[in-house]
Amino acid sequence: MSLIIWIDAYSTGIAEVDGQHKKLVELINTLFDSITLKDRTPVLSQAFEELVNYTVFHFGKEEELMTRCAYPDIVNHKAEHRSFINEINKFKQEFASGDNKVMLKVINFLKDWLLNHIKGTDKKYVPHLQAKGCK
Ligand code: FEO
Repeated sequence: MSLIIWIDAYSTGIAEVDGQHKKLVELINTLFDSITLKDRTPVLSQAFEELVNYTVFHFGKEEELMTRCAYPDIVNHKAEHRSFINEINKFKQEFASGDNKVMLKVINFLKDWLLNHIKGTDKKYVPHLQAKGCK
């Protein structure tokens, strides 16, 4: 069973952004689903690495979009992105311990942070982009 089910409330209405957010959700679901595997360590390590790399990719794309569209609150938004990258880099070692409780803690942090960021911070730039006709 998936940890996160995509719902309309997560949608920004910007196809490229929503596609990337859906991919992030899929990667978190893969991590969650892998916890119960017997030989899970290599699968989890790879899935976690992929999530970190894809998050960096997505943040870069989103920051390009905000720059291109002259979004006035870009500095604060970028600071949230940096803070999240720092947190998940710290979690890497804990996650590699292979302990179920630690992995669940990390996965829940990822889920809560991502969904709150999408529903709050990301959605804030949508009216600005729409007003400017910028995508
Ligand atoms: Fe979609 Fe600001 O991350």
